[in-house]
Amino acid sequence: MERTFAMIKPDAVATGKTGAILSVIEQNGFRVVAMKKHTISQKEAEGFYGVHKERPFFGSLVSFMTSGPSVLLVLEKEGAIKAWRDLMGATNPANAAEGTIRKMFAESIERNASHGSDAPETAAVETVFFFSHSELL
Ligand code: RTP
Ligand code: MG
Repeated sequence: MERTFAMIKPDAVATGKTGAILSVIEQNGFRVVAMKKHTISQKEAEGFYGVHKERPFFGSLVSFMTSGPSVLLVLEKEGAIKAWRDLMGATNPANAAEGTIRKMFAESIERNASHGSDAPETAAVETVFFFSHSELL
């Protein structure tokens, strides 16, 4: 079984889509290993998305991600990392396939409803960024 780190981003939490997204997650065979609602701080957002710090959208991304609570998740399934990226769909909802979370719930390329780790190494780092050992049993 593989685990991945996922988030329901502030746009989707603020517009009341948390339950619908969790329902899609469970309908697609993911087990919710850990879950918490948390408002990401400036330092957390800058660290979490540090790989993008030279990108033109970085400031706007940090401000969006700190604008309200997110729901942080660790999801488990066979091939969870790719399966969750596939279920989220393309970064820009305009390019996301039918049935994907971003197609159904995202507003824009930035306010795109969800996050998912993109590789085993990032899944490991991102999980311990927000969850402690005892929350992951
Ligand atoms: P994520 O890391 O959140 O799962 O999203 P991703 O891999 O699909 O996309 P990534 O390239 O890693 O970008 C991270 C987040 O930055 C925002 N973004 N804004 N304005 C823009 O052009 C732009 N591009 C990306 C999105 O919130 C994206 O998910
Ligand atoms: Mg990414």
